[in-house]
Amino acid sequence: MDVLWAIKNRRSCRSYLQKPVEFDKITAIIEAGHYAPSAGNLQDWNFIIVTEADIRKAISEHCMEQYWMAQAPAMIVVCSNEERTEQRYGLRGKRLYSIQSCAAAMENMLLAAEALGLGTCWVGAFDEEFVTQSLNIPETARPQAIVTLGYKGEEPEPKDLTSLQSLVYFNAYGNRLKKPHLVLKDFSVEWEQQAKKAAPVFKEGLAKIKAGVQQLKEQVKEQQRPDEKEKQEEGTGQGKEEDI
Ligand SMILES: Cc1cc2nc3c(=O)[nH]c(=O)nc-3n(C[C@H](O)[C@H](O)[C@H](O)COP(=O)(O)O)c2cc1C
Repeated sequence: MDVLWAIKNRRSCRSYLQKPVEFDKITAIIEAGHYAPSAGNLQDWNFIIVTEADIRKAISEHCMEQYWMAQAPAMIVVCSNEERTEQRYGLRGKRLYSIQSCAAAMENMLLAAEALGLGTCWVGAFDEEFVTQSLNIPETARPQAIVTLGYKGEEPEPKDLTSLQSLVYFNAYGNRLKKPHLVLKDFSVEWEQQAKKAAPVFKEGLAKIKAGVQQLKEQVKEQQRPDEKEKQEEGTGQGKEEDI
């Protein structure tokens, strides 16, 4: 499946069918996470698969009471291994790289799940202490995020996105191009601008065409007149002798 298709179709899913997810699919999703980039290729992450109903329920309660989460037949808790990252990269490793590596793994998993026809939601709002304690996460690790996983119980709406042009700068922060939409391949803006520019020309052209058509109509009428006269003459019997 095209990765761009998965990227554009993925939406957060907060309603799931009561149908277990096949374990080979869960494995494939975690493997996709494991293929993500990580600082220094440290692969400084762990994945905890939670399928036990009671634990899922307790976790959902400690995720600011997001009870819909418990519906998902599986959850994956992604933990960073901060100690290893700090050993290699110091505080920047601990505070930034380990988070970024896990985020990359998270996104890979969401996309893999989408490609496998499964729904997911990235959950970041959780009681870290509760999750750490209830899942026996050691001090050297930190739960970064939870993915809910299951067959979709809803078809999400298409995503409402901020225009890319308003977000992209060129070569320096704040630098915009005159026509960024052309570079960003948003041709709709260009169509609109060109159509506005062309409108008066179109109007003028249309008026000329209308005048031309009118002129032609009159010429045709003019040429038809003698025939019509003849027809009228035939109708009154005049010119009959000449035909014979
Ligand atoms: C860091 C992070 C934390 C999030 N935490 C939650 C959460 O606690 N609960 C939730 O329902 N969605 C959560 N989301 C999902 C976002 O609400 C969602 O991605 C966003 O609204 C865009 O919608 P989409 O995922 O359908 O494209 C989180 C997403 C990210 C990246």
